[in-house]
Amino acid sequence: ATPVSYDYVIVGAGTSGLVIANRLSELSNVTVAVIEAGDSVYDNVNVSSTTGYGLAFGTAIDWAYQTTNQSFGGDIVQTMRAGKAIGGTSTINGMAYTRAEDIQIDAWEALGNVGWSWEVLFPYYKKSQQLQIPTEAQAAAGVTYDAADNGFEGPLKVGWNPALNVGDVHTVLNETYAALGVQWSEDVNSGRMVGYNRYPSHIDVALNIREDAGRAYYYPIANRTNLHLYPNTLAHRMTWDTTAQIPTANGVVVQAVNSTTPYTISANKEVILSAGALASPLLLELSGVGNPAILSKYNISTVVDLPTVGENLQDQTNTGLAIDTAGNTSYSGTSDYVAYPTAADIFGSEITNISATVLAALPSYAATVAAASGNVTKASDLLSFFKIQHELIFSTTHPVPIAEVLLTPSGTAVDCEYWALLPFARGNIHITSATAGVPAAINPNYYMLDWDVTGQIQVAKFIREIFATQPFAGLLGTETKPGFDVVPQNATNAQWQAWNNGVYRSNFHPVATAAMMPKEVGGVVDTSLKVYGTANVRVIDASVLPFQVCGHLVSTLYAVAERAADLIKSEM
Ligand code: FDA
Repeated sequence: ATPVSYDYVIVGAGTSGLVIANRLSELSNVTVAVIEAGDSVYDNVNVSSTTGYGLAFGTAIDWAYQTTNQSFGGDIVQTMRAGKAIGGTSTINGMAYTRAEDIQIDAWEALGNVGWSWEVLFPYYKKSQQLQIPTEAQAAAGVTYDAADNGFEGPLKVGWNPALNVGDVHTVLNETYAALGVQWSEDVNSGRMVGYNRYPSHIDVALNIREDAGRAYYYPIANRTNLHLYPNTLAHRMTWDTTAQIPTANGVVVQAVNSTTPYTISANKEVILSAGALASPLLLELSGVGNPAILSKYNISTVVDLPTVGENLQDQTNTGLAIDTAGNTSYSGTSDYVAYPTAADIFGSEITNISATVLAALPSYAATVAAASGNVTKASDLLSFFKIQHELIFSTTHPVPIAEVLLTPSGTAVDCEYWALLPFARGNIHITSATAGVPAAINPNYYMLDWDVTGQIQVAKFIREIFATQPFAGLLGTETKPGFDVVPQNATNAQWQAWNNGVYRSNFHPVATAAMMPKEVGGVVDTSLKVYGTANVRVIDASVLPFQVCGHLVSTLYAVAERAADLIKSEM
């Protein structure tokens, strides 16, 4: 193939990668290549449909990564979905647009990431966003927002689904949640997430189609002559300038899907890995950046000794309850009723005890997680992270939400998906071969720690309380999932756990596999998202988030990528 060279080579035309591609190619004197394993999904109705969540699962645009056996989580393998397309996972996700709790981003700075705080990131959330205001009917049905918290001129259209239910369920739920101490929240994207709200989505309201990263950040500028996107092209690994003193990437080996011949796309300035939290760390390892003990198993020479590449993996787990509506009503619409309760909301009078129990358990959690990584992550570092996380969860003055409770009234039933937001477990992802594209060993260690199990179970109990609280209770009939025959009203945690282990799934929010943290505490990238020990390799995607956030991920990833693009420009 013809030799090709660009200033910046980005791997992954996904949620984050396309922000970088767009912002860098704004500069006409800079050339940018984007390498993407998937194809265009512009005309794929499984993507564009605004009511078609799940249609793309298991199709060619779903990587459907498999975990290792989850020994703490029911001895089963889980599927971790991720988008393989121009637009990445934003083309197959649930389109929810909810950010993070402000103090949760401030915690990044507390970890030692100077310059990464809510105050710094907030303008970038707004920079990426173009809020479309709700219709009168939606406003009448409870949709609220605060203009000061939203951007109106960014590339990403955000708004309320035309299929949003404008019936009276909202009023009923609002009163029900208030009775449980969960108050209406004016704007979930203000940095204060706790409460009940009707969140917006990333959606083009006028066209009634999904707004994915391709539509927001790529197609409008695809004709820039300094930007070239290579679809259907798998990146294998980076190449290094052997004359440089500090490891300096000078290209990416790639292979088109319809070809058997790899070739190299050269990078004059930088290589940026935006392949996602379940792919970017693998590209580092395949390029010789990682734990020498792992690299040597596959005869990969170590270029940078950075053992924590692929460690610190954090995901959540998702379970569902359902109840019929006894013929009282027939709802329809989207799953846009969300509650973000605090630990105090769901644990009630037990909260002080639970807080103390978890605090006392942190040293053993840290030791367990460290041991599971072969002590590549250090118990003392983990303990300091866990103390920050404990304070976020159990603060008596400003706690973050601890669960997402998503209600979908459909037909004559109400489905309720839920997930505990902040498990302490950390897992890892590593290569199993020196060949790109071979499935990795992905181990999120679901339910490794007591808190992770207790949290998920307590949310289920709280949902039973929601179902039993008026006025919502008056509309409901019999619980169908799990049902009292399967998990009795006064079930023990062991009974809940037995049921949960058979039905849970990944919540598809993997983060932190190339975490932004000081190197001394196990970080992989610095505060400019540059990989430690390299001159010019950055990771910009969900891999760099050091902690899980309470909102869904894309809003935060767009903001991080917007800021990262500015950081790169400031170094030009
Ligand atoms: P992303 O996955 O977007 O991009 C990575 C890109 O790199 C992909 O296009 C991939 O094909 C490509 N790639 C990977 N390896 C490669 C290689 N070797 N060579 C070339 N290309 C390669 N979030 C949210 O905010 N709201 C929601 O409702 C949901 N719901 C949801 C549902 C489901 C089913 C999933 C799977 C996820 C969500 N999420 C979500 C999470 C969110 O969508 C996700 O975290 C981000 O889109 C991830 O963005 P990244 O930029 O990290 O990677």
